[in-house]
Amino acid sequence: MERKYIFPDNFLWGGATSANQCEGAAREDGKGWTTSDTSLFIADSKKRIQQMLSPMTTDKVRKALGDTKGFYPKRQGIDFYHHYKEDIALFAEMGFKTFRLSISWARILPNGDDKHPNEKGLQFYENVIDELLKYNIEPLVTLSHYEFPLELSFRQNGWASRKTIDAFEHFVTILFERFKGKVKYWITFNEMNVIGMTGYLSGGLLADKYENPDNPNQDYFQAAHHQLVAAAKAARALRSIDPEAQIGCMIVRFENYPDTPNPLDVLASLKSDQENFLMSDVLMKGSYPGYSKRLFAEKNVHIEMTKEDLEILANYTADFVSFSYYMSGVVGGTNSEKTTGNILDSKQNPFLKKSEWGWQIDPVGLRITLNKMYDRYQKPIFIVENGLGAKDELTDELTVHDTYRINYLRSHIEQIGEAIDDGVEVIGYTPWGCIDLVSASGNEMSKRYGFIYVDIDDKGQGTGKRYRKDSFAWYKNVIKTNGESL
Ligand code: BG6
Repeated sequence: MERKYIFPDNFLWGGATSANQCEGAAREDGKGWTTSDTSLFIADSKKRIQQMLSPMTTDKVRKALGDTKGFYPKRQGIDFYHHYKEDIALFAEMGFKTFRLSISWARILPNGDDKHPNEKGLQFYENVIDELLKYNIEPLVTLSHYEFPLELSFRQNGWASRKTIDAFEHFVTILFERFKGKVKYWITFNEMNVIGMTGYLSGGLLADKYENPDNPNQDYFQAAHHQLVAAAKAARALRSIDPEAQIGCMIVRFENYPDTPNPLDVLASLKSDQENFLMSDVLMKGSYPGYSKRLFAEKNVHIEMTKEDLEILANYTADFVSFSYYMSGVVGGTNSEKTTGNILDSKQNPFLKKSEWGWQIDPVGLRITLNKMYDRYQKPIFIVENGLGAKDELTDELTVHDTYRINYLRSHIEQIGEAIDDGVEVIGYTPWGCIDLVSASGNEMSKRYGFIYVDIDDKGQGTGKRYRKDSFAWYKNVIKTNGESL
């Protein structure tokens, strides 16, 4: 018998993007420089991801800002800044109920902590939000997605400084006041649990300014603590300015299986979960979990936290939990064969196929993760990223036959349906890069996720025209039938 999946009537189907990967217009209308503006396109694909994960220094940043020869894809994006009306019309045609975007902090406060906001920046986002609301699409807004105002890196080493909490509170207060009644769903930090790997991009950390150059973990975890306090302060501000709105935390989920039934492998998997859930545990439950003591001791980390920090964390927990999920991994054991993955490499799982980028495709892992998270938090869950990065080919009929993407998404949505049947409260699903955009790790256009093809290549050449892929009509039907047509 054919299996039918029942999604809630108000399920938020949609798509996700980030400002730094799609807007472009890096220097337009008063925007300040951000960490993502220094990501250079590197021709050798094997070296690309290293750039994202390598520490940056003041000198390297200054050099990138003054470089007139290299190509920096995120400064151009897909020019969503000028195409947003056309793009949103396409999302509306697919029937999106929600659209995840992020706001570039430096577009609002070019130096990160300016007293008065840049009106042109605010106006741009207001135009985007109004355009979405015109089609009854709920904006889902991330306050910080893999970019940070560079001025605050130079001055106070980004999130390593406690002063950055105040700057962020000021930034988000401006947004909550301006978009009160228009934005119901906010997310504080994108994938905040991997600041140890994306310390520069998301934390604005410069290696030459580390407090403990011998143990960068100290700076990473102190910065993460400041983000946690800032997230709780954002929740406090939102509750007083717009009590109807909700704020969520967001992590990248690594479902890491034990390599064998050996209890040591199972323990390795449990430890991987603990490290993976640390940030969401704090923000969903209001305090650092018991296991954090040992984790910090093992990493030789001593976090400075005040009584006020602990109070604010306890009093302003998040309303929902959200996460990105692309793949699963394996830990422990003796298997030494590795494959690449989202941010982290993993051991190979012989039961899974891989994407062209080596990420292990595992729809059932999504169901497992959803169940685990719901058991842990008992709060609504928003899946705010999922998808298949692939090389697409535009045909002569100006479309892309992306059956591989449809298969990936179908199998994952089916598992969301299963998890809902398991009793998990899933409120929405926004596949990543619903329109092709610059890849975060590779800084390239060749790795595409979208339902909409954008005619721009790795070097930024192309017409910029948008074309509907086969997955466009497929997803439109999924939304129209609320998942029944899977
Ligand atoms: C997530 C990020 O980790 O993965 C996105 O939040 C990113 O910004 C996405 O684009 C996919 O990764 P990539 O490297 O394929 O673009």
